[in-house]
Amino acid sequence: MKVNFNRISVSGNELPNIQKAIESGHLQGDGAFTKICEKALREITKAPAALLTTSGTSSLDMAALLLDLKEGDEFIVPTYTFVSSVNSFVLRGAKPVFCDINPDTLNIDETKIESLVTDRTKLIVPVHYAGVGCEMDSINSVAKKHGLRVVEDAAQGIEAYYRGRHLGTIGDLGALSFHGTKNVTAGECGAVLVNDESLIERANFIREKGTNRIQFIEGKIDKYTWVDYGSSYIPSELVSAFLAAQLEISKELTRARVAAWDKYYARLSALEKRGVIKLAKVPEHCEHNAHIFFLTTESSETTKALAAHLKGRDIAALSHYAPLHACPMAKKLGVGNVSLPVAEKLSQTMLRLPIYSSITLDELDYVCEGVESFFKS
Ligand SMILES: Cc1ncc(COP(=O)(O)O)c(C=O)c1O
Repeated sequence: MKVNFNRISVSGNELPNIQKAIESGHLQGDGAFTKICEKALREITKAPAALLTTSGTSSLDMAALLLDLKEGDEFIVPTYTFVSSVNSFVLRGAKPVFCDINPDTLNIDETKIESLVTDRTKLIVPVHYAGVGCEMDSINSVAKKHGLRVVEDAAQGIEAYYRGRHLGTIGDLGALSFHGTKNVTAGECGAVLVNDESLIERANFIREKGTNRIQFIEGKIDKYTWVDYGSSYIPSELVSAFLAAQLEISKELTRARVAAWDKYYARLSALEKRGVIKLAKVPEHCEHNAHIFFLTTESSETTKALAAHLKGRDIAALSHYAPLHACPMAKKLGVGNVSLPVAEKLSQTMLRLPIYSSITLDELDYVCEGVESFFKS
């Protein structure tokens, strides 16, 4: 048996939707399928505005423009994340201040954020790793105390909740991703959730290349013009058509993933009891979406050997991020000279197991047997 790391699931309406988009003759963005996706996202998330974008990265780029980040500003971000959580703000000249993570969730350690605030700090960027919510109450209270904005990187957070609120709707802005590796996908696509309603109008300008075209489309003005910064953040209708079909089954996809995650957890808990691995600890107030199933071992050598053992059985098990403060670009920017021991260790000792909504019981058994057989020897 061969178990891939990821496999996409389709609802069956993807191709018919694309056909309809072609027949409509409207392939540029903001056609009928973009509107369907945005409505579905407002219903799922309850965000006041959900604007479809070309990617999670574009959504973060838009957030950086909307919040007027500039040279000399600082933002606090976990070191254990994807580059876009940082690059979008670095592109505006802002300086990342890296924070360590919580070993139970690999999310930003909220207890360490306040000590990193300076008079230059403008923003906190919590990243909801694996679709498990960061401790947003603490994060928002630090932000409020110091007058900071909060942009949630909820790239992995579709159909996941913190205290009943959808990830990405708790800070000022949230970024979702529908990249090919995500639970709900259109290959490359994303959305920005605008929770601070005073930002919605400018978000529409920035998304449409810095123009007020939306007001022209709505019949409010005769001619659209250049009114703001902006870029090309609107996805093609072909992409939206695919995503619309995926969003129809997002709850089903999530349920199946969570069922697979629960099976892994129940079975591998025996190894945790023996003390040879550790599993994630999802806080009770977080309803996660099973985006990632990870375990950690006591050393990087053990994790590497386990990954090789699984590979020998045709099971794809992968590590994840290199802590950003230790990457070449952090050195170039002069922001890498910090010690963040939890992320440094866990990045070496964690391993992700294959998970997707269509994973079969046989595949799950095979992966679990692979992990168990490694710890037998
Ligand atoms: C935490 C995180 N942030 C940002 C992104 C960027 O999203 P995208 O690939 O849609 O640009 C991703 C996904 O790749 C991610 O996992």
